Amino acid sequence: MRVSPDWLARLPKTELHLHIEGTLEPELLFALAERHGVALPYADVDALRAAYDFKDLQSFLDLYYAGADVLRSEADFHDLTRAYLARAHADGVVHVEIFFDPQTHTARGVPFATVLNGIRRALTDGEREFGISHRLILCFLRHLPEADGFATLEEALPHLDRIDGVGLDSSEAGHPPQKFERLFARCRELGLPCVAHAGEEGPPEYVWQALNALRVCRIDHGVRALEDPVLVAELARRRIPLTVCPLSNVRLKVYPSLTRHPLRQLLQAGLVATVNSDDPAYFGGYVGENWRACAEALGLTREELLQLARNGIDASWLEPAAKARWLAVIDGM
Ligand code: ADE
Ligand code: ZN
Repeated sequence: MRVSPDWLARLPKTELHLHIEGTLEPELLFALAERHGVALPYADVDALRAAYDFKDLQSFLDLYYAGADVLRSEADFHDLTRAYLARAHADGVVHVEIFFDPQTHTARGVPFATVLNGIRRALTDGEREFGISHRLILCFLRHLPEADGFATLEEALPHLDRIDGVGLDSSEAGHPPQKFERLFARCRELGLPCVAHAGEEGPPEYVWQALNALRVCRIDHGVRALEDPVLVAELARRRIPLTVCPLSNVRLKVYPSLTRHPLRQLLQAGLVATVNSDDPAYFGGYVGENWRACAEALGLTREELLQLARNGIDASWLEPAAKARWLAVIDGM
């Protein structure tokens, strides 16, 4: 049975794979450039948007890091995060677990606390205004040396009460999870839950390393795990969630079109697959659009959509009572 757009909009959704820097819309980017007197190499918003035509992950990351240069003050990080939460709320998102990339900002002289305070204040306000609960995940940039990650962790130490976990992102190819084994061991000693991007462009071997060397509790993307049946069985047996980002995968040419996306295969393999938006300002849609586009392109059934919603709650770091409340709402849909 096909679901109605209204039903899909009301379905309680989570967002567990979202880079806050990837929500920087061209309009806000231009406004912040003006706020700080930064000259941009694009004539206007349309010219910038036209440049969002990526051939792979790296060609996206080059623009994404350049765009982040306009994020300078606490107010910038607050405004960015608030704008994202308003959009998420409109999509029926009830809980978010957001990544931020401190190294992208501290390398430009923006203090760690400026970034954290702006994002955190918007998350706290957003919980009051929109009823969206949240967690915040510090991501290490994997194209940089592990020593730089240790320096960032050192900066984070006074703020650990406001950081809920750590992740690993940026250029995947040539930067295997193993490179960060000692850093993640230290994070686990500090009691921080760990996640990592793996199996987006990189091979299944990187997913194995994220599991065995980094001991992550969730894999970000992970779609290439499907190439290794033993890995699929392991992920299913351990109920390790995958935070899948369908529109991102198409925009970064992991799959040629959404109709070829393996979201259904992941569900059929018994994996805890979830739907997320990754960098929605760059990839043509927020989480609601990812759900709508997948439902349409893949002809997802009501049962499959309910399973994806349940998976999002199960895979989240919400406390058990909150999970039970949302699962009951989903079961009543
Ligand atoms: N940083 C922001 N988006 C990313 C992605 N899709 N993969 C790796 N690093 C990222
Ligand atoms: Zn990502």
